[in-house]
Amino acid sequence: MKSILEVLQIAVGKSLVASFGEEYANTDPLVNATNNPKFGDYQANVALSLSKKLKQAPRAIAETIIANLEVADIAQEPQIAGPGFINFTLKPEYLAALLGEIQGSDRLGIEPVEQAEKIVVDFSSPNIAKEMHVGHLRSTIIGDSIARVLEFQGYDVLRLNHVGDWGTQFGMLITYLKEAYPEALTTADALDIGDLVSLYKKAKVRFDEDADFKETARKEVVRLQDGAADNRHAWKLLCDQSRREFQVIYDILDINLTERGESFYNPFLENVVKELEQKGLLEENDGAKCVFLEGFTNKDGDPLPVIVQKSDGGFNYATTDLAAINYRVSEDHASRIVYVTDAGQANHFAGVFQVARRAGLLPETVQAIHVPFGIVKNEKGEKIKTRAGKTIKLIDLLNEAVVRAKQDITNRLKIEEREESEEFIDNVAQIVGISAVKYADLSLKRITEYKFSYDNMLELKGNTAPYMLYAYVRVQGISRKGDIDYSELSGAKILLEEDSELTLTKHLLQLTDVLNEVEKDLLPNRLCQYLFELSQKFNQFYDRCDILKAAEPQRTSRLILADLTARTLKLGLSLLGIPVLDRM
Ligand code: ARG
Repeated sequence: MKSILEVLQIAVGKSLVASFGEEYANTDPLVNATNNPKFGDYQANVALSLSKKLKQAPRAIAETIIANLEVADIAQEPQIAGPGFINFTLKPEYLAALLGEIQGSDRLGIEPVEQAEKIVVDFSSPNIAKEMHVGHLRSTIIGDSIARVLEFQGYDVLRLNHVGDWGTQFGMLITYLKEAYPEALTTADALDIGDLVSLYKKAKVRFDEDADFKETARKEVVRLQDGAADNRHAWKLLCDQSRREFQVIYDILDINLTERGESFYNPFLENVVKELEQKGLLEENDGAKCVFLEGFTNKDGDPLPVIVQKSDGGFNYATTDLAAINYRVSEDHASRIVYVTDAGQANHFAGVFQVARRAGLLPETVQAIHVPFGIVKNEKGEKIKTRAGKTIKLIDLLNEAVVRAKQDITNRLKIEEREESEEFIDNVAQIVGISAVKYADLSLKRITEYKFSYDNMLELKGNTAPYMLYAYVRVQGISRKGDIDYSELSGAKILLEEDSELTLTKHLLQLTDVLNEVEKDLLPNRLCQYLFELSQKFNQFYDRCDILKAAEPQRTSRLILADLTARTLKLGLSLLGIPVLDRM
């Protein structure tokens, strides 16, 4: 079903053609929802933008548009405001009819796209033998939500975990383990990741200060890359170890990912370099093979290079990304490739995309998009660390959120004098704690730096997960109290009279537009904002209108509104990776 926005865009578009001719068929009618009821529910601003071209006053243009506009079924007579805005106030019967339509739909009236194009979302992507850090947590949460929205929209989404499982770190680690912990290279589970990470750090120190060690490490990488059996075996054990640890986090967060790490592209790297050579893009610089970028210069004004092969013959992070683009385009047939990493990698991706385009690996028909996000800091604006000054472990950070959520619930139950089972409390704490972490991340404009605060994210009021979950619980509370089965209400008459009913309804009917926006801009915070406002509008309606105590037909009509609010919250939250609770 079409959204109100789309219906009005079409109507104004038709009027533009009727008023000014075919050449206006593609003019954007500039319709949007108003945020001030004084200006009606929707507004079209196109008259102002056409003034110059038509050499007429905007108000006169607006009058002509209105004269040719066919919206009598859905809106009151459109009004001209200010310099030439056209304001629409929708008819309650129209809104009620639309609610009836979404009520009977599993997808709340939102149609999937006609063409299920393939979209690759490259997210999470931690590095083997290193701890997954808060940056990876952000990538995981944001990437998962973007993937969920695209999947709901009907796309064929390939969720790829581009783990760092190749390269110099293994040479270092293998060399070090050979002397310090040889059984780790031959026996599964000889280490846990904590050991692995600390051994990695020690190996790095040796690598940086000991030239012989460095040389041996380099040779071990080459042996690994050439397929030497012992190094392959050791490498596989180390990867398995890390993988199991990552999976613990993915299970807690309910994340689905297909692992296709850097090593996967190893066989294709040489060809990428050849391809660049054939296209005449390759240049030698101090023995390294690189492509000089157009439009990116250093502070002396010289073009910046993307190095694809080092002087020792080794390949780079960028080379792997070029091979990955090639694979995703030619084998996966992706029409969009989305990368979710911190903003610090913006230049890397801009460079890689440019080289891929110039080399013909990335045709114009395929979009490559870097989705950057800001760094995570603590409440004081510092890097997140433990009290001992060590970087905080992701698992500890998540567990702490659950512990705090449990404290909050326990306190609340005491105040409300409620008894609940330990099992109930643990389940609520788990869902509230993890949802709070996810929601806090998703509700921000992702590019801004993110200040991590347990207190803020667990707040029952405000733009938080608990507030949203609580609105859902309220609706379920109504049905428990009134012994209502919401599914039996379908088809009943909907009557919209009170302002708070109308306001809630109009908001409910905007989900399609919001999801279209999230898809276009890849900004899940828009969906959060929408759900936050929905909860607020529902709470106003709940405060001002009797529901169970109302007389028929209002009672049923209001129950339908409550149910649609809950279903919209449930769907919206699910697209953020957040499950709902019936009680909390
Ligand atoms: N492993 C990288 C890191 O931890 C992120 C990889 C992102 N994806 C990609 N295709 N480069 O920074």
